[in-house]
Amino acid sequence: MKDALTNPFVVSGYESPDYFCDREAETERMVTELMNGNNLTLISPRRMGKTGLIHHAFRRLKLDDQSVLTIYVDLLPTNCLADLAKSFSIAVMEQMDASPMTILKKAARLFSRLRPALSFDPVSGAPKFSVDIAHGEEQMTIEQIFSYLKNSGRQCFVAFDEFQQVAYYPETNVEAFLRSHIQFLGNVHFVFSGSQSHMLSEMFHSPKRPFYSSASSLSIGPIDRGKYYVFASDFFKKAGRDLPEEVFNSVYDRYDGHTWYVQKVLNKLYGYRTKEIDGSNVLIAIREILSDNEYYYQSILRAYSKGQGKLLKAIAKEDRVKEILSGGFLAKYGLNAASSVRGSLKRLLDDEQIYRDAEGYIVYDRFMSEWLKGLN
Ligand SMILES: Nc1ncnc2c1ncn2[C@@H]1O[C@H](COP(=O)(O)OP(=O)(O)OP(=O)(O)O)[C@@H](O)[C@H]1O
Ligand SMILES: [Mg+2]
Repeated sequence: MKDALTNPFVVSGYESPDYFCDREAETERMVTELMNGNNLTLISPRRMGKTGLIHHAFRRLKLDDQSVLTIYVDLLPTNCLADLAKSFSIAVMEQMDASPMTILKKAARLFSRLRPALSFDPVSGAPKFSVDIAHGEEQMTIEQIFSYLKNSGRQCFVAFDEFQQVAYYPETNVEAFLRSHIQFLGNVHFVFSGSQSHMLSEMFHSPKRPFYSSASSLSIGPIDRGKYYVFASDFFKKAGRDLPEEVFNSVYDRYDGHTWYVQKVLNKLYGYRTKEIDGSNVLIAIREILSDNEYYYQSILRAYSKGQGKLLKAIAKEDRVKEILSGGFLAKYGLNAASSVRGSLKRLLDDEQIYRDAEGYIVYDRFMSEWLKGLN
Protein backbone atom coordinates (compact mmCIF):
# COMPACT_ATOMS: atom_id res chain seq x y z
CA MET A 1 0.00 0.00 0.00
CA LYS A 2 1.19 3.49 -0.82
CA ASP A 3 1.44 6.13 1.87
CA ALA A 4 -1.99 6.95 3.25
CA LEU A 5 -3.57 10.03 1.75
CA THR A 6 -4.11 13.00 4.05
CA ASN A 7 -7.68 13.06 2.84
CA PRO A 8 -9.10 9.68 1.80
CA PHE A 9 -12.01 11.18 -0.14
CA VAL A 10 -10.45 11.56 -3.56
CA VAL A 11 -12.10 14.19 -5.73
CA SER A 12 -10.07 13.93 -8.88
CA GLY A 13 -8.70 10.96 -10.74
CA TYR A 14 -8.28 7.42 -9.47
CA GLU A 15 -5.90 6.73 -6.62
CA SER A 16 -6.08 3.06 -5.63
CA PRO A 17 -8.59 0.40 -4.52
CA ASP A 18 -8.24 1.60 -0.92
CA TYR A 19 -9.96 4.84 -1.83
CA PHE A 20 -12.44 3.42 -4.30
CA CYS A 21 -15.88 2.49 -3.03
CA ASP A 22 -17.65 -0.67 -4.15
CA ARG A 23 -18.38 -0.97 -7.91
CA GLU A 24 -17.67 -4.66 -7.39
CA ALA A 25 -20.40 -5.93 -9.72
CA GLU A 26 -19.56 -3.37 -12.41
CA THR A 27 -15.84 -4.16 -12.18
CA GLU A 28 -16.53 -7.86 -12.41
CA ARG A 29 -18.78 -7.32 -15.42
CA MET A 30 -16.20 -5.19 -17.22
CA VAL A 31 -13.37 -7.61 -16.51
CA THR A 32 -15.44 -10.61 -17.60
CA GLU A 33 -16.65 -9.02 -20.82
CA LEU A 34 -13.15 -7.94 -21.80
CA MET A 35 -11.55 -11.25 -20.82
CA ASN A 36 -14.14 -13.00 -22.97
CA GLY A 37 -13.16 -10.98 -25.98
CA ASN A 38 -16.08 -8.57 -26.00
CA ASN A 39 -15.98 -4.83 -26.40
CA LEU A 40 -18.02 -2.76 -23.99
CA THR A 41 -19.73 0.61 -23.96
CA LEU A 42 -19.82 2.33 -20.59
CA ILE A 43 -22.39 5.06 -20.17
CA SER A 44 -23.40 7.28 -17.26
CA PRO A 45 -24.03 10.94 -16.52
CA ARG A 46 -20.93 13.01 -15.92
CA ARG A 47 -19.09 12.60 -12.64
CA MET A 48 -20.77 9.32 -11.76
CA GLY A 49 -17.55 7.32 -11.88
CA LYS A 50 -16.89 5.95 -15.39
CA THR A 51 -13.22 6.89 -15.58
CA GLY A 52 -12.57 5.60 -12.06
CA LEU A 53 -14.26 2.32 -12.92
CA ILE A 54 -12.13 1.90 -16.05
CA HIS A 55 -8.91 2.41 -14.05
CA HIS A 56 -10.16 0.11 -11.31
CA ALA A 57 -11.06 -2.67 -13.77
CA PHE A 58 -7.82 -2.22 -15.73
CA ARG A 59 -5.88 -2.53 -12.51
CA ARG A 60 -7.72 -5.77 -11.75
CA LEU A 61 -6.99 -7.12 -15.25
CA LYS A 62 -3.32 -6.42 -14.76
CA LEU A 63 -3.30 -7.95 -11.31
CA ASP A 64 -4.81 -11.16 -12.71
CA ASP A 65 -2.28 -11.32 -15.55
CA GLN A 66 0.73 -9.05 -15.56
CA SER A 67 1.38 -9.65 -19.23
CA VAL A 68 -1.73 -7.78 -20.40
CA LEU A 69 -1.45 -4.28 -21.78
CA THR A 70 -3.96 -1.69 -20.58
CA ILE A 71 -4.19 1.57 -22.44
CA TYR A 72 -6.38 4.43 -21.33
CA VAL A 73 -7.04 7.23 -23.83
CA ASP A 74 -8.99 10.33 -22.81
CA LEU A 75 -10.70 11.67 -25.93
CA LEU A 76 -12.45 14.57 -24.18
CA PRO A 77 -9.88 17.17 -25.27
CA THR A 78 -9.63 15.80 -28.82
CA ASN A 79 -11.22 17.64 -31.75
CA CYS A 80 -9.98 15.77 -34.79
CA LEU A 81 -8.43 12.52 -35.90
CA ALA A 82 -4.90 13.89 -35.52
CA ASP A 83 -5.65 14.62 -31.84
CA LEU A 84 -6.85 11.05 -31.40
CA ALA A 85 -3.70 9.73 -33.06
CA LYS A 86 -1.55 11.85 -30.74
CA SER A 87 -3.37 10.91 -27.53
CA PHE A 88 -3.47 7.25 -28.52
CA SER A 89 0.23 7.12 -29.35
CA ILE A 90 1.25 8.85 -26.13
CA ALA A 91 -0.95 6.44 -24.12
CA VAL A 92 0.74 3.51 -25.85
CA MET A 93 4.21 4.94 -25.31
CA GLU A 94 3.49 5.43 -21.61
CA GLN A 95 2.77 1.72 -21.29
CA MET A 96 6.04 0.65 -22.87
CA ASP A 97 8.34 -0.95 -20.38
CA ALA A 98 11.64 0.79 -21.02
CA SER A 99 13.57 3.94 -20.27
CA PRO A 100 12.09 7.15 -21.71
CA MET A 101 14.90 7.46 -24.27
CA THR A 102 14.42 3.88 -25.45
CA ILE A 103 10.66 4.44 -25.72
CA LEU A 104 11.27 7.53 -27.79
CA LYS A 105 13.46 5.64 -30.24
CA LYS A 106 11.09 2.71 -30.36
CA ALA A 107 8.08 4.94 -31.05
CA ALA A 108 9.90 6.76 -33.84
CA ARG A 109 10.74 3.41 -35.42
CA LEU A 110 7.31 1.78 -34.98
CA PHE A 111 5.17 4.77 -35.84
CA SER A 112 7.05 6.13 -38.81
CA ARG A 113 4.92 9.26 -39.29
CA LEU A 114 5.16 10.31 -35.68
CA ARG A 115 7.64 12.84 -34.36
CA PRO A 116 7.89 12.05 -30.66
CA ALA A 117 9.67 14.29 -28.17
CA LEU A 118 10.58 14.01 -24.51
CA SER A 119 10.61 16.67 -21.84
CA PHE A 120 10.87 16.60 -18.07
CA ASP A 121 8.49 18.22 -15.64
CA PRO A 122 10.50 21.08 -14.11
CA VAL A 123 9.10 20.41 -10.64
CA SER A 124 8.74 16.64 -10.31
CA GLY A 125 11.30 15.68 -12.96
CA ALA A 126 8.85 13.14 -14.38
CA PRO A 127 9.33 12.36 -18.09
CA LYS A 128 6.61 13.63 -20.39
CA PHE A 129 6.11 12.60 -24.00
CA SER A 130 4.69 14.77 -26.71
CA VAL A 131 4.19 13.94 -30.36
CA ASP A 132 3.61 15.63 -33.67
CA ILE A 133 2.12 14.24 -36.82
CA ALA A 134 2.35 15.77 -40.25
CA HIS A 135 -0.95 16.77 -41.80
CA GLY A 136 -2.57 13.85 -43.61
CA GLU A 137 -0.58 11.18 -41.74
CA GLU A 138 -3.01 10.57 -38.88
CA GLN A 139 -4.79 7.56 -40.36
CA MET A 140 -1.50 5.88 -41.13
CA THR A 141 -0.32 6.50 -37.55
CA ILE A 142 -3.48 5.03 -36.06
CA GLU A 143 -3.10 1.99 -38.32
CA GLN A 144 0.48 1.58 -37.14
CA ILE A 145 -0.60 1.75 -33.51
CA PHE A 146 -3.26 -0.90 -34.09
CA SER A 147 -0.80 -3.10 -35.86
CA TYR A 148 1.75 -2.65 -33.04
CA LEU A 149 -0.91 -3.84 -30.57
CA LYS A 150 -1.94 -6.69 -32.85
CA ASN A 151 1.63 -7.93 -33.14
CA SER A 152 2.49 -7.42 -29.48
CA GLY A 153 1.64 -11.04 -28.71
CA ARG A 154 -0.24 -9.82 -25.62
CA GLN A 155 -3.85 -9.36 -24.62
CA CYS A 156 -4.53 -5.65 -24.95
CA PHE A 157 -7.33 -3.62 -23.43
CA VAL A 158 -7.92 -0.13 -24.73
CA ALA A 159 -10.32 2.39 -23.20
CA PHE A 160 -11.46 5.24 -25.39
CA ASP A 161 -12.97 7.52 -22.76
CA GLU A 162 -15.53 10.11 -23.97
CA PHE A 163 -15.68 8.22 -27.24
CA GLN A 164 -18.65 10.25 -28.48
CA GLN A 165 -16.10 12.95 -29.34
CA VAL A 166 -15.24 11.12 -32.56
CA ALA A 167 -18.73 11.82 -33.87
CA TYR A 168 -17.89 15.54 -33.78
CA TYR A 169 -14.58 15.34 -35.64
CA PRO A 170 -14.57 17.28 -38.90
CA GLU A 171 -13.26 14.32 -40.92
CA THR A 172 -15.85 12.10 -42.55
CA ASN A 173 -16.12 8.37 -41.96
CA VAL A 174 -14.05 8.35 -38.75
CA GLU A 175 -16.30 5.72 -37.21
CA ALA A 176 -16.09 3.53 -40.31
CA PHE A 177 -12.31 3.90 -40.38
CA LEU A 178 -11.91 2.92 -36.72
CA ARG A 179 -14.41 0.08 -36.91
CA SER A 180 -12.82 -1.41 -40.00
CA HIS A 181 -9.56 -1.84 -38.07
CA ILE A 182 -10.91 -2.66 -34.65
CA GLN A 183 -12.90 -5.63 -35.89
CA PHE A 184 -9.75 -7.43 -37.02
CA LEU A 185 -7.86 -7.11 -33.76
CA GLY A 186 -8.44 -10.48 -32.10
CA ASN A 187 -6.20 -9.74 -29.12
CA VAL A 188 -7.34 -6.15 -28.50
CA HIS A 189 -10.59 -5.38 -26.73
CA PHE A 190 -12.13 -2.00 -26.17
CA VAL A 191 -14.11 0.03 -23.69
CA PHE A 192 -15.96 2.91 -25.30
CA SER A 193 -17.05 5.19 -22.55
CA GLY A 194 -19.00 8.41 -22.48
CA SER A 195 -21.56 10.65 -20.85
CA GLN A 196 -23.61 11.66 -23.86
CA SER A 197 -25.90 8.69 -23.74
CA HIS A 198 -28.00 9.65 -26.76
CA MET A 199 -24.93 10.04 -28.97
CA LEU A 200 -23.28 6.83 -27.78
CA SER A 201 -26.53 4.86 -28.04
CA GLU A 202 -26.99 6.13 -31.56
CA MET A 203 -23.42 5.13 -32.47
CA PHE A 204 -23.77 1.60 -31.11
CA HIS A 205 -27.45 0.84 -31.58
CA SER A 206 -28.34 2.36 -34.91
CA PRO A 207 -28.03 -0.14 -37.79
CA LYS A 208 -26.86 2.72 -39.98
CA ARG A 209 -23.72 3.35 -37.94
CA PRO A 210 -20.40 1.48 -38.33
CA PHE A 211 -20.19 0.47 -34.65
CA TYR A 212 -23.67 -1.03 -34.69
CA SER A 213 -23.90 -4.06 -32.40
CA SER A 214 -20.15 -4.20 -31.89
CA ALA A 215 -20.14 -3.94 -28.10
CA SER A 216 -22.02 -5.04 -24.99
CA SER A 217 -23.31 -2.20 -22.88
CA LEU A 218 -22.86 -1.28 -19.26
CA SER A 219 -24.36 1.76 -17.61
CA ILE A 220 -23.59 2.85 -14.08
CA GLY A 221 -25.65 4.76 -11.55
CA PRO A 222 -25.03 5.86 -7.98
CA ILE A 223 -23.07 3.65 -5.57
CA ASP A 224 -25.33 1.79 -3.12
CA ARG A 225 -26.03 4.03 -0.12
CA GLY A 226 -25.34 1.40 2.55
CA LYS A 227 -22.03 0.37 1.02
CA TYR A 228 -21.03 3.99 0.56
CA TYR A 229 -21.75 4.67 4.23
CA VAL A 230 -19.55 1.79 5.40
CA PHE A 231 -16.76 3.02 3.10
CA ALA A 232 -17.04 6.62 4.30
CA SER A 233 -17.56 6.03 8.02
CA ASP A 234 -14.58 3.66 8.19
CA PHE A 235 -12.20 6.46 7.27
CA PHE A 236 -13.65 8.65 10.01
CA LYS A 237 -13.48 5.76 12.49
CA LYS A 238 -9.83 5.10 11.65
CA ALA A 239 -9.12 8.72 12.51
CA GLY A 240 -10.94 8.32 15.85
CA ARG A 241 -13.92 10.31 14.59
CA ASP A 242 -17.57 9.68 13.85
CA LEU A 243 -19.73 10.21 10.79
CA PRO A 244 -23.26 9.31 11.93
CA GLU A 245 -25.30 7.38 9.37
CA GLU A 246 -28.11 9.94 9.28
CA VAL A 247 -25.63 12.70 8.48
CA PHE A 248 -24.09 10.66 5.69
CA ASN A 249 -27.55 9.80 4.34
CA SER A 250 -28.53 13.46 4.28
CA VAL A 251 -25.53 14.17 2.04
CA TYR A 252 -26.12 11.15 -0.16
CA ASP A 253 -29.83 11.91 -0.61
CA ARG A 254 -29.25 15.59 -1.25
CA TYR A 255 -27.29 14.65 -4.40
CA ASP A 256 -29.21 11.46 -5.22
CA GLY A 257 -25.96 9.60 -4.55
CA HIS A 258 -24.22 11.31 -7.50
CA THR A 259 -20.66 10.21 -6.76
CA TRP A 260 -18.48 13.25 -7.24
CA TYR A 261 -20.84 15.57 -5.33
CA VAL A 262 -21.01 13.19 -2.37
CA GLN A 263 -17.21 12.74 -2.45
CA LYS A 264 -16.66 16.48 -2.54
CA VAL A 265 -18.76 17.09 0.58
CA LEU A 266 -17.12 14.14 2.38
CA ASN A 267 -13.71 15.53 1.43
CA LYS A 268 -14.60 18.87 3.05
CA LEU A 269 -16.09 17.23 6.14
CA TYR A 270 -13.00 15.10 6.62
CA GLY A 271 -10.83 18.18 6.33
CA TYR A 272 -12.56 19.89 9.30
CA ARG A 273 -11.06 17.59 11.96
CA THR A 274 -14.34 17.82 13.95
CA LYS A 275 -14.67 14.71 16.10
CA GLU A 276 -18.36 14.08 15.55
CA ILE A 277 -19.79 15.35 12.29
CA ASP A 278 -23.28 16.81 12.40
CA GLY A 279 -25.75 18.55 10.11
CA SER A 280 -24.28 21.99 10.73
CA ASN A 281 -20.87 20.82 9.46
CA VAL A 282 -22.58 19.62 6.28
CA LEU A 283 -24.17 23.01 5.71
CA ILE A 284 -20.85 24.77 6.25
CA ALA A 285 -19.13 22.38 3.83
CA ILE A 286 -21.69 23.01 1.11
CA ARG A 287 -21.62 26.76 1.66
CA GLU A 288 -17.85 26.68 1.26
CA ILE A 289 -18.01 24.66 -1.94
CA LEU A 290 -20.55 27.05 -3.44
CA SER A 291 -18.57 30.09 -2.46
CA ASP A 292 -15.34 28.56 -3.87
CA ASN A 293 -17.13 28.25 -7.21
CA GLU A 294 -19.20 31.40 -7.22
CA TYR A 295 -17.16 33.24 -9.85
CA TYR A 296 -17.34 30.22 -12.12
CA TYR A 297 -21.13 29.93 -11.75
CA GLN A 298 -21.54 33.65 -12.40
CA SER A 299 -19.48 33.41 -15.56
CA ILE A 300 -21.62 30.54 -16.80
CA LEU A 301 -24.77 32.50 -16.14
CA ARG A 302 -23.35 35.53 -17.95
CA ALA A 303 -22.76 33.42 -21.05
CA TYR A 304 -26.50 32.97 -21.50
CA SER A 305 -29.37 35.20 -22.52
CA LYS A 306 -31.80 36.46 -19.92
CA GLY A 307 -34.40 33.89 -20.93
CA GLN A 308 -31.95 31.01 -20.81
CA GLY A 309 -30.68 32.09 -17.38
CA LYS A 310 -34.22 32.40 -16.11
CA LEU A 311 -35.04 28.88 -17.27
CA LEU A 312 -31.89 27.49 -15.61
CA LYS A 313 -32.82 29.19 -12.33
CA ALA A 314 -36.42 27.99 -12.54
CA ILE A 315 -35.30 24.37 -12.97
CA ALA A 316 -32.89 24.73 -10.05
CA LYS A 317 -35.62 26.12 -7.83
CA GLU A 318 -37.87 23.16 -8.61
CA ASP A 319 -34.96 20.66 -8.19
CA ARG A 320 -36.48 18.57 -10.94
CA VAL A 321 -39.05 19.48 -13.59
CA LYS A 322 -41.16 16.81 -15.18
CA GLU A 323 -43.40 18.84 -17.52
CA ILE A 324 -41.12 21.62 -18.61
CA LEU A 325 -43.45 23.21 -21.16
CA SER A 326 -46.52 23.02 -18.96
CA GLY A 327 -48.44 26.26 -18.47
CA GLY A 328 -48.13 25.93 -14.68
CA PHE A 329 -44.31 25.85 -14.67
CA LEU A 330 -43.97 28.64 -17.24
CA ALA A 331 -46.40 30.90 -15.39
CA LYS A 332 -44.88 30.23 -11.95
CA TYR A 333 -41.48 31.52 -13.10
CA GLY A 334 -42.68 34.17 -15.55
CA LEU A 335 -41.08 32.36 -18.49
CA ASN A 336 -41.79 33.27 -22.08
CA ALA A 337 -43.96 31.38 -24.52
CA ALA A 338 -43.36 27.66 -24.85
CA SER A 339 -41.70 28.11 -28.26
CA SER A 340 -38.91 30.33 -26.94
CA VAL A 341 -38.49 28.18 -23.81
CA ARG A 342 -38.06 25.22 -26.15
CA GLY A 343 -35.16 27.07 -27.85
CA SER A 344 -33.53 27.89 -24.50
CA LEU A 345 -33.96 24.33 -23.35
CA LYS A 346 -32.25 22.96 -26.44
CA ARG A 347 -29.28 25.26 -25.97
CA LEU A 348 -28.92 24.40 -22.29
CA LEU A 349 -29.22 20.68 -22.98
CA ASP A 350 -26.66 20.87 -25.80
CA ASP A 351 -24.27 22.70 -23.47
CA GLU A 352 -24.83 20.11 -20.73
CA GLN A 353 -26.09 22.73 -18.31
CA ILE A 354 -29.27 20.71 -18.01
CA TYR A 355 -29.57 16.96 -17.82
CA ARG A 356 -32.63 14.98 -18.78
CA ASP A 357 -33.43 11.54 -17.47
CA ALA A 358 -36.60 9.49 -17.16
CA GLU A 359 -37.70 11.52 -14.12
CA GLY A 360 -37.41 14.93 -15.77
CA TYR A 361 -34.95 17.81 -16.12
CA ILE A 362 -32.33 18.87 -13.59
CA VAL A 363 -29.45 21.35 -13.57
CA TYR A 364 -26.51 19.11 -14.47
CA ASP A 365 -24.05 20.52 -11.95
CA ARG A 366 -25.66 19.84 -8.61
CA PHE A 367 -23.67 22.43 -6.70
CA MET A 368 -24.49 25.06 -9.28
CA SER A 369 -28.11 24.06 -8.91
CA GLU A 370 -27.95 24.85 -5.20
CA TRP A 371 -26.23 28.15 -5.90
CA LEU A 372 -28.90 29.10 -8.46
CA LYS A 373 -31.60 28.17 -5.98
CA GLY A 374 -30.25 30.76 -3.58
CA LEU A 375 -30.53 33.58 -6.14
CA ASN A 376 -33.55 35.85 -6.36
N1 LIG B 1 -16.21 4.19 -6.62
C1 LIG B 1 -15.77 5.39 -6.22
N2 LIG B 1 -15.38 5.57 -4.94
C2 LIG B 1 -14.96 6.78 -4.53
N3 LIG B 1 -14.89 7.87 -5.30
C3 LIG B 1 -15.25 7.73 -6.58
C4 LIG B 1 -15.71 6.50 -7.11
N4 LIG B 1 -16.01 6.67 -8.42
C5 LIG B 1 -15.75 7.96 -8.68
N5 LIG B 1 -15.30 8.60 -7.60
C6 LIG B 1 -14.96 10.01 -7.46
O1 LIG B 1 -15.81 10.76 -8.26
C7 LIG B 1 -15.05 11.53 -9.19
C8 LIG B 1 -15.72 11.43 -10.55
O2 LIG B 1 -15.51 10.13 -11.03
P1 LIG B 1 -15.06 9.89 -12.53
O3 LIG B 1 -14.11 10.91 -12.97
O4 LIG B 1 -14.67 8.47 -12.61
O5 LIG B 1 -16.48 10.11 -13.21
P2 LIG B 1 -16.84 10.19 -14.75
O6 LIG B 1 -18.16 9.52 -14.87
O7 LIG B 1 -15.72 9.67 -15.56
O8 LIG B 1 -17.00 11.75 -14.93
P3 LIG B 1 -16.81 12.64 -16.25
O9 LIG B 1 -18.00 12.38 -17.08
O10 LIG B 1 -16.80 14.05 -15.71
O11 LIG B 1 -15.53 12.23 -16.90
C9 LIG B 1 -13.64 10.95 -9.19
O12 LIG B 1 -12.66 11.93 -9.27
C10 LIG B 1 -13.54 10.30 -7.86
O13 LIG B 1 -13.00 11.25 -6.99
MG1 LIG C 1 -14.55 10.56 -17.02
